[in-house]
Amino acid sequence: MKVLVATEKPFSKIAVDGIKAVTDAAGYELVLLEKYTEKKQFLDAVADVDALIIRSDKVDAEVLDAAKNLKIVVRAGAGYDNIDLAAATAHNVVAMNTPGQNANSVAELVFGLLVYGVRNFFNGTSGTELLGKKLGILAFGNVGRNVARVAKGFGMEVVAYDAFCPAEAIEAAGVKAAKNQEELFETCDIVSLHIPATPETKQSINYDLVGKLKKGGILVNTARKEVIDEAGLIKLMEERTDLKYLTDIKPDADAEFAEKFAGRYFATPKKMGAQTAEANVNAGIAAANQIVGFLRDGITKFQVNK
Ligand code: 3PG
Repeated sequence: MKVLVATEKPFSKIAVDGIKAVTDAAGYELVLLEKYTEKKQFLDAVADVDALIIRSDKVDAEVLDAAKNLKIVVRAGAGYDNIDLAAATAHNVVAMNTPGQNANSVAELVFGLLVYGVRNFFNGTSGTELLGKKLGILAFGNVGRNVARVAKGFGMEVVAYDAFCPAEAIEAAGVKAAKNQEELFETCDIVSLHIPATPETKQSINYDLVGKLKKGGILVNTARKEVIDEAGLIKLMEERTDLKYLTDIKPDADAEFAEKFAGRYFATPKKMGAQTAEANVNAGIAAANQIVGFLRDGITKFQVNK
């Protein structure tokens, strides 16, 4: 069996070594395609592999057509909006993710962004503290739960809303539950996004919703750029000069945000949420183990295209 790790944004070396240890033990061959710049390189590399490990790398019908022997693709991470699930199913390819494995890494970055933001991007002027501020967490999955845990360490008041997680489950985790996302934005100083990009969530973080934030409000996005209505957010930030937007995913209109909102907008140059040795090791090795589990024992526990 041949396993390809195709990562435009590579894992740390220790994670690749860990993946290799798993595939070696199973008697599989491991091949690496890192930092590729052309889709053609990806299409050539998948031609003869049985299994594929990716990060945010796009697996569409063209990739699946090229991957004649492919049986399984594992997205080493949480969000699998980069895999065409219907095409995977049509090609008889099992698609999986590795939920939770990089969640703490993403959660810690939320606070890196927040401290940077409330201290005015370290420009020397007097900022504010996080202690006592109210943090709204939109979606209470693995990342949201880790954000809540860290926020408590900062002494923040924590509220969450999740369309798919009942209020009782949120409160059982020691977090206040908001009735809906409108209430979350209305009552919090800061809202941190942890929703996936789905047809329902795309552009759902819009002018009206973000406009409910209190004076001096901050929106933090370590989720997906697609959930933001960029034109609406730009209009709002033009009108509300008190608002800040901090993101780990460059918007399409990055240049416009940067030009119009200096001192109120920050985007990481490259998505950094899951870029830690620990997250790479956790997600990468989980992906390798899931591949062996599926190819050898037929285990489909984390399949997402059922
Ligand atoms: C995820 O969905 O797991 C995160 O967005 C991390 O994405 P990355 O592996 O491309 O850094």
